[in-house]
Amino acid sequence: MYVIGLTGGIGSGKSAAAGMFAELGAAVVDTDAIAHELTRAGGPAIDAVRDAFGAGFVLSDGSLDRDSMRRLVFRDPAARATLEAILHPRIREQSRSRIAAAPQPYVVLVVPLLIETGACRDLVRRVLVVDCNEKRQLERAMQRSRLSQAEARAIMAAQLPREERIRHADDVLDNDGDMESLRRQVALLHAKYLTLARDP
Ligand SMILES: Nc1ncnc2c1ncn2[C@@H]1O[C@H](COP(=O)(O)OP(=O)(O)OP(=O)(O)O)[C@@H](O)[C@H]1O
Ligand SMILES: [Mg+2]
Repeated sequence: MYVIGLTGGIGSGKSAAAGMFAELGAAVVDTDAIAHELTRAGGPAIDAVRDAFGAGFVLSDGSLDRDSMRRLVFRDPAARATLEAILHPRIREQSRSRIAAAPQPYVVLVVPLLIETGACRDLVRRVLVVDCNEKRQLERAMQRSRLSQAEARAIMAAQLPREERIRHADDVLDNDGDMESLRRQVALLHAKYLTLARDP
């Protein structure tokens, strides 16, 4: 299966672009959504989270306390490594089976930290980066995630700078414009990916 890795900074427009690829007929596998499912109430990673971090990180409904966990892993690299050791292999396996089961001609695998962590890098043939300037990214990240400006800035600072991310890209979506501009670029790439998927 031909797999495109779609990545970009927080709020850059990954989900918006992925939705447009899906409308055009690509399969979309979203590793953020998989991580969410793994840690929802009764999700398959909850027991491992409770064992590693204690019951304090599981809400009364049985789901991961995402806000507490985000704050913890942000200041504690060892905790981050522990969480990643729980989630990454499970995300990978879920991604692999969804990719294998997809009937569409190619798959867009959304991996926010594809370049930063290298997670799932070996599953993708090409890297597609969604790029926008930092001011817009900050506004959009706040609009999308209920983050304060300080939190959004801190997350952006911990991610790769945009120039460096672009250096790893095979293709780039310029998301400084409006949704229509993004849609036009996605349509061009979709045509290219259909061709590549037929004859890699
Ligand atoms: N070209 C655009 N014009 C206007 N709004 C946009 C554009 N692209 C994205 N947005 C909006 O910006 C916000 C962030 O976009 P989106 O959720 O697609 O980013 P993301 O990279 O998936 O973010 P996250 O890292 O939080 O998952 C959303 O509210 C989305 O509707
Ligand atoms: Mg998203």
